[in-house]
Amino acid sequence: KVASMLVAGLVLAACGKKEPAPAASAPVASAPASAAEPAPAKVYAVGTDAAYAPFEFQNEKGEIVGFSVDLLNAVAEKGGFKVKFVNTPWEGIFNALGQGDRDVLISSITITDERKQTMDFSDPYFDANQLIAVKENSKVAKFDDLKKLKVGVQTGTTGDEVVTKLQGKTATTIKRFESTPLALKELEAGGVDAVVADNGVVIHYVANNAGAKFKTVSDTKSFAPEQYGIAVKKGNAELLAQINKGLAAVKADGTYNAIYKKTFGTEPAAAAASA
Ligand code: ARG
Repeated sequence: KVASMLVAGLVLAACGKKEPAPAASAPVASAPASAAEPAPAKVYAVGTDAAYAPFEFQNEKGEIVGFSVDLLNAVAEKGGFKVKFVNTPWEGIFNALGQGDRDVLISSITITDERKQTMDFSDPYFDANQLIAVKENSKVAKFDDLKKLKVGVQTGTTGDEVVTKLQGKTATTIKRFESTPLALKELEAGGVDAVVADNGVVIHYVANNAGAKFKTVSDTKSFAPEQYGIAVKKGNAELLAQINKGLAAVKADGTYNAIYKKTFGTEPAAAAASA
């Protein structure tokens, strides 16, 4: 009997070696679910560059919070899936999706034709545009005034794109930062003359950093309207459908408006909610 138990133990050990435990990121293995008890839903890893208040940022406890987090949590609930947010630097965020390290991205990502070639986007959930931040005493009045000035942007954002288009690819006066707050800090320190970034983030920063003595300069003629979308890996039609279903539901039942009001203190303009 002891011998047979030993053999069984060896067989088990051998099996254990051949079949290593699933990686931490794989769905948790569980006993086969009965018909009455469906298998637990997979938890999708959501990448977000959490240095983008009030959309996605870390609170004092280090938790990822903000408009995007509230929105996607609500969308997931209505769409019937589960999410877990993972702070993901902007510069690697699209690669992380392409390589399957993240299943979803929500990071105030502007839907662009170029990005659509490498990922799929949900229906738009937020209207945005570029906005210029300068020191209170700056003479800058329009985007064109930045042609020869030192301008800070977050690398690889739509702000980077418009400034690169204005100044040219080889311009040495474009200062690229890994986050938008770092670019704004550099403006405060006098290292750049202006920062171009998404309006919501610039407005939030200016309002919460009175000591920086910034003002904003809007130039609707120079900046095309932008819309944020939730991204999934190209071809992940099933998850995209769940996201769009959830998004439509939260827009229809007032949840979207409530999250908007919680974040910005006002109701969204009619166009934004129906976009
Ligand atoms: N909307 C801009 C873009 O898509 C900037 C987004 C940056 N997001 C962030 N969480 N840092 O390029």
